[in-house]
Amino acid sequence: MEQTHIKDFSEKLDQEVTIKGWVYNFRSSGKIAFLQIRDGSGFTQAVVAKDSVEKAAWTAVEEMSQESSVEVVGTVSKHPKKEEYELQVKQLSFIQKAEEYPIGNKEHGPDFLMENRHLWLRAPKQAAIQKIRTTVIMATYEFLLGQGFTKIDSPILTPAACEGTTELFEMDYFDLGKAYLSQSGQLYLEAAIASLGKVFDFGPTFRAEKSKTRRHLTEFWMMDAEMAFYDHEMSMQLQEDLICNIAKSVLEKNKPELEILERDTSALEKITAGFERLTYEQALKELQEKGSDIKQGEDLGNDDEDLIMQDRDKPIFIEKWPADIKAFYMKRDKDNEDIALCSDVIAPEGHGEIIGGSQREDDYETLVKRIKEHKLPQESFEWYLDLRKYGSVPHSGFGYGLERIVGWMCGTKHVRETIPFPRTINRIYP
Ligand code: 4AD
Ligand code: MG
Repeated sequence: MEQTHIKDFSEKLDQEVTIKGWVYNFRSSGKIAFLQIRDGSGFTQAVVAKDSVEKAAWTAVEEMSQESSVEVVGTVSKHPKKEEYELQVKQLSFIQKAEEYPIGNKEHGPDFLMENRHLWLRAPKQAAIQKIRTTVIMATYEFLLGQGFTKIDSPILTPAACEGTTELFEMDYFDLGKAYLSQSGQLYLEAAIASLGKVFDFGPTFRAEKSKTRRHLTEFWMMDAEMAFYDHEMSMQLQEDLICNIAKSVLEKNKPELEILERDTSALEKITAGFERLTYEQALKELQEKGSDIKQGEDLGNDDEDLIMQDRDKPIFIEKWPADIKAFYMKRDKDNEDIALCSDVIAPEGHGEIIGGSQREDDYETLVKRIKEHKLPQESFEWYLDLRKYGSVPHSGFGYGLERIVGWMCGTKHVRETIPFPRTINRIYP
C-alpha cells in the first residue's frame, strides 16, 4: 500500500493507511503496546493489541528497540483524550531492528551529544531547530526577492582576505600560490551590483577564529546583501525590515516547533520596526557607566554586548565605529575621517551581533590608500579596484550570521545546535 505521512492523518480518519518511520519510544503491558512513531513529517502513537494482530507483528513488538525503523499498517483514529490522531495497528514489521541506541531518555552532556550529532539530530528539539532554520532561510529569500534582489553565488575559494588576514583558512592552490576559504562574499557582490543593482548571496563562510565562545563557529552560513545607490541609512532601514519579516515568518510558520523548544514567543512578538540606534560613542559611554572596562577605540566583547542589551528587548544598531578597528572597504564619515559609516545589529537575550554592514568606499584613490594602510596585497584587489574606475556609485551592504539568528529565534544558548554538523576549533567530527 502507498505510504501515508503522519502530517496527513486528519484527511485519513477511519481509513487504513501504511506508514514508515522510526520508533522513538514504546511501552507494553503484555497485551497492548504503545509505540511512539516519527516519520519526518510528524509524530503519532501506534496502538497494538496482541489479540488483533498476527503473531509476527506481536513478536516484533516484543523485540522492539528504540529507533528501529518500521512499516506499520493500521486505521487512523482520534486520540480518546487529546486533539491528536493515532493508529490502530493491523500489521507491523521491522525495516531494520536497531541496536541498542546510545542516546537514551536520560540527560547527556553536550560533548557526548556533539560526538553523536549524527544521531542527536533526530531529537524533537533538534528537528524543530532545523525546521526554524529553513523558515529563516525562506523568509530571507522571500523578503529580498520581493525587494527586487537577484541571487549571486559568490565563490568559496578566493585569492585574498575580505575581513582581515588573521582568521583565514589557507591552502596551496596548484601552481597559483595560496588560496583562502571565503570569509564573506561581499567583495564579489560589489562587482555584481553594477550588473543587477541589488544582489545577495547565501552560503557557507569560514573563519579560522580561535574563539571558543557559544557564538562562534569556524564554518557558518552568511547572507550578504549589497545595494547600488544605497547609503548607510537606507541600508540600516532594509536590515530592520528584513529582521522583522524573519521574526514574523517564524511566529506564523513554526508554532509547533516553538512549543517543542519551549520558546517564549512574546520575546519574538516584540521584534517590530523602530530599532534603537546608538553611535559607538554613546554605546561606549553607556557601557562604561554600567561598569565595563572597555576603552575608547576597543571592539565590544561578548560581555559588553550582553551588558548593553541587559535592559533592552529589541535589537539595536550600534553605528559609526572608529574606522581603525573596522575593515578596509568601509566609507568614512564626511564630517569625521576617523569614523566609518558602518553598523552592527545586536540581538537581545544574549545572542550578540547578528549583522555587520557598512557603506563602501567608492573612490579609487582613497581605496588604494586603505589597501596600503591595511598592508593588503594590492595585486589581489586589482579587480575590486576596477569597480571604482568604471561607473563607481555610492553603495552599501551587510551580512548576517544565519546560526546566530536561528539561535535567537529558537532561544538556544549555543550556535552549535543551530547548524546540522557544527565545526568549531575543537570539533570536525562527525
Ligand atoms: O561582521 P562580519 O564579519 O561582516 C562581514 O563579513 C561583512 N563582509 C558582511 C557584509 O557587509 N556583507 O560578519 C557578518 C555576520 C556577523 O554579524 C555575525 O552574525 C556572523 O556574520 N559571524 C559569525 N557567526 C558565527 N561564527 C562566527 N565565527 C562568525 N563571524 C561572524
Ligand atoms: Mg562584525
